[in-house]
Amino acid sequence: MAFELPDLPYAYDALGPYMSAETLEFHHDKHHMAYVSKGNELAEAAGMADKSLDEIMKASFGSNAPLFNNAGQHFNHIHFWKWMKPNGGGTSLPGALQSAIDSDLGGYDKMRADFIAAGVGQFGSGWAWIAVKDGKLEIMKTPNGENPVVHGATPILGCDVWEHSYYIDYRNARPKYLEAFIDSMVNWDYVAELFEATR
Ligand SMILES: [Fe+2]
Repeated sequence: MAFELPDLPYAYDALGPYMSAETLEFHHDKHHMAYVSKGNELAEAAGMADKSLDEIMKASFGSNAPLFNNAGQHFNHIHFWKWMKPNGGGTSLPGALQSAIDSDLGGYDKMRADFIAAGVGQFGSGWAWIAVKDGKLEIMKTPNGENPVVHGATPILGCDVWEHSYYIDYRNARPKYLEAFIDSMVNWDYVAELFEATR
């Protein structure tokens, strides 16, 4: 099943002033597109063109790094666009998700601080996550195109901390970008939808 670039679920300028149209144009049209094109080329070369994205990620992890990173990044970005929305963020979360954050992650404030710390602490390119593993929420971080799926967990929120996601708008201030992501961009309804699907 060939990878395809999904449309952004909002206009390029919809996340301003927290994420600019210029960032989204480069990030979606150039970077995500490159993962799609390169991923298809490498999947074909590996004889996996007819496999699903999940199957390709799991089969290539640890054995074919170029294919894995492109497939992983395709998966990560498909969700990343949906993990944000105009007028996102806020501390009023859907009930069951809030309860799980309270019981597993020590409440909203601790979750926010730990998620930001995971993103800041990811040396070089990678992702910060909230994932469900063995029925519990966990904060995780991974390098490059890696994600919780290959660690037996289901990501319900992820923030791209590659410089291509924030350098135009925040320069080297990764913590400011992570704060803006949590406070003003997260689509908690989509996070809750993914969370519900794990229960
Ligand atoms: Fe990215």
